[in-house]
Amino acid sequence: MNNNLNINAKKYVIAPSILSANFAYLGQEINDVINSGCDWIHFDVMDYHYVPNLTIGPLVCQSILPIAKQLNSIIDVHLMVENPDNLIKDFAAAGANIISIHPETTYHLDRSLSLIKDSACFAGLVFNPTTPLNYLDFCLDKVDLIMLMSVNPGFGGQKFIDIIKQKIVQTKQILDNYEQQSGRHIRLEIDGGITAENIAEIAKLGVDTFVSGSGIFKHKNSANKNNYDDIVQQMINNLNKV
Ligand code: DX5
Ligand code: ZN
Repeated sequence: MNNNLNINAKKYVIAPSILSANFAYLGQEINDVINSGCDWIHFDVMDYHYVPNLTIGPLVCQSILPIAKQLNSIIDVHLMVENPDNLIKDFAAAGANIISIHPETTYHLDRSLSLIKDSACFAGLVFNPTTPLNYLDFCLDKVDLIMLMSVNPGFGGQKFIDIIKQKIVQTKQILDNYEQQSGRHIRLEIDGGITAENIAEIAKLGVDTFVSGSGIFKHKNSANKNNYDDIVQQMINNLNKV
């Protein structure tokens, strides 16, 4: 639910993917990573059908909601599930702020996006590495965020697929044209293989929202210490130089 929440308040947003966190200490991990300077909590939902992995659902979202509220953070739900409509309702009820879906997972994309908006959540549309951008032709008015996958969805810790840089540039052009016509800013989020090393290069291409899982939680200086300050500060510094 979004009571007057503004997802465009910050130029750059870092959204740590809790898929790479230590689930035995999830609340503490979220606390640590947001206190280190991250912004949104990226929440990966996988159903073992659309992607070959099984993760977490609305109950976990509901459990972390008080922590997210206390930290003034946003829950950014990424649904990698077939037929997402029922889960959209469940995640909205569980406190999700942003719900993103893959266009090929629903028979009726317009209906699913409307469902997200009618549930008072922000709507995101996610493109796999080879999914064509023409899904955007008739739905931008209902979308608040575009997410480009720079890995094949299903797992953390994969390598950034280089050709996605071209796709970023094309998407940014579409979003800039749309903003000129409509005055509405649609965020451009990247998901997969983002690290302190490549974040600035990707920002220069037009991305403003960065999911990072293993790049933060499994970073060699943070993995055992539960202290993400250094790695997150490095990311912020690199973004500030763009
Ligand atoms: C992949 C997920 C990503 C993943 C990112 O299907 O959507 O959010 O956790 O992990 P890293 O940053 O390790 O590539
Ligand atoms: Zn994700």
